[in-house]
Amino acid sequence: MPNTQIQVGILGATGFTGCELVGLLLRHPRAEIAWLSSESQPGTAYGKVYPQYLGRLPPQVEKMRSFEDVKATVPDVVFSCLPHGASAECAAPFLMNGKTIVIDLSADFRLKDPKAYAEAYAHTHPMPERLKESRYGLCEVHGGEIKGARLIANPGCYPTSAILPLYPLIRDGVVSPDGIIIDAKSGVSGAGKKPTETTHYVMANESVTAYGVGDKHRHRWEIIEQLSLAAGRKLDLLFTAHLIPMERGILSTIYCDLADGKTAALAEACLRKQYEGSDFVRIREDFPRTGDVKHSNFCHMKVYQPAGGRKLIIVSVIDNMVKGASGQALQNMNIALGLPETLGLA
Ligand SMILES: NC(=O)c1ccc[n+]([C@@H]2O[C@H](COP(=O)([O-])OP(=O)(O)OC[C@H]3O[C@@H](n4cnc5c(N)ncnc54)[C@H](OP(=O)(O)O)[C@@H]3O)[C@@H](O)[C@H]2O)c1
Repeated sequence: MPNTQIQVGILGATGFTGCELVGLLLRHPRAEIAWLSSESQPGTAYGKVYPQYLGRLPPQVEKMRSFEDVKATVPDVVFSCLPHGASAECAAPFLMNGKTIVIDLSADFRLKDPKAYAEAYAHTHPMPERLKESRYGLCEVHGGEIKGARLIANPGCYPTSAILPLYPLIRDGVVSPDGIIIDAKSGVSGAGKKPTETTHYVMANESVTAYGVGDKHRHRWEIIEQLSLAAGRKLDLLFTAHLIPMERGILSTIYCDLADGKTAALAEACLRKQYEGSDFVRIREDFPRTGDVKHSNFCHMKVYQPAGGRKLIIVSVIDNMVKGASGQALQNMNIALGLPETLGLA
C-alpha cells in the first residue's frame, strides 16, 4: 500500500457499529473518512446524530450523504454497517468497480452455503455468485486468507467469542466436535440502535431473557459452518443467546468433551500455541469478565476441567461492538492492506 491516506466510506453510519467505527477511524493514522452515508437522514450533520463527533470530522464529511450520492464514488475501503439483505445490495456497486475493498459487518457474505443462509435469515441470498470470493474475516484464524481480499465478511459477535477458542481445539483434535453447547450472553447494543419490545430499557433492565434457544439463533449456522471446517466434517451443536441488562459485552460459556487421552492442560497449550504473539487474544489463568475487554479489540478466554469427567468448560469474553464488529472490521482492513494489525486499535 503506497504511503498515502486510505479513503474510507461507511454505509449505514447512523447505526451503533457505524458510530463505533467512526471513533476508531478517527484514531487510525492512515485512514481518512471520505463519506458517511444514511438513507433516513442524508444531509444531516453527523455531529447532530452523535454529538461526540461534533467538530471532529473534516468539513466534507460533516454532513451524511445518501446511498445514491455515494455509490458512484471509488474509495479504497467501504465498510457496510447495514442490516443483512440491504448490505449486499448496497455493497454491489463497490464490488463492481474493480478497486474498492468491501468489509461487510452484516451476515450477507459469512455463510458459504446459500441454503444455510436462506434457512438462517429466512430469505434467499441476494448475491450468491459473490460467496465464493468472500473471505471470512476471523483475523486470528483466517488472517492468511484476508491479505489482498476484496470482499471480507466480518464475523458475527457471538460467533467471534465462540469460534476463537473452539476452532484450534477442534482442528487439533483436542476437543470432540460432537455434543458442544454454547451458552452466551450479550449486552443490549448487540441488537442495534432501534429499540424493540424486548430491547427497550423498561423490558431489558433488571431482567435476563433467553432467545434463539438451542437450534434457532441465526449465528448458530455460522458457528457450525466454521467449526465444521475445523473438524473436516459436518458437526452440529446447541447455541443459546441471552440478553442481559448491560450496554455492551459478550460472555460465552462453552461446554464440550475432551477427546480421548486429552486434558485441560493440553487444551490450554493448544490455545497458547495458536495465539502466541497475537495482538488481541489472551489466555487467562482466571475467569475473564466482560468488563476486562470493554471498549477494546481483545478476546480473553480460560479453559477449565471440572473434577471427575471429560468435560471441558471454556469462558470467553469480547466487546460485541469492537472485537465483535467494528474493531475486528478495522483489523480486517489493516490485514487486507498489509498494515500493522493494531493500527487504530491499540
Ligand atoms: N451491534 C452489534 O453489536 C453488531 C455486532 C456484529 C455485527 N453487527 C451487524 O452489523 C450491522 C449493523 O449493526 P448495527 O448494530 O450498527 O445496526 P443499527 O444500529 O440498527 O444500524 C443500522 C443502520 O442501517 C441503516 N438501515 C436500517 N435498515 C436499513 C435498510 N433496510 N436499508 C438500508 N439501510 C438501513 C440505518 O441507517 P439509516 O436509516 O440512517 O440509513 C441504521 O442506522 C448489522 O448487519 C448487524 O447484524 C452488529
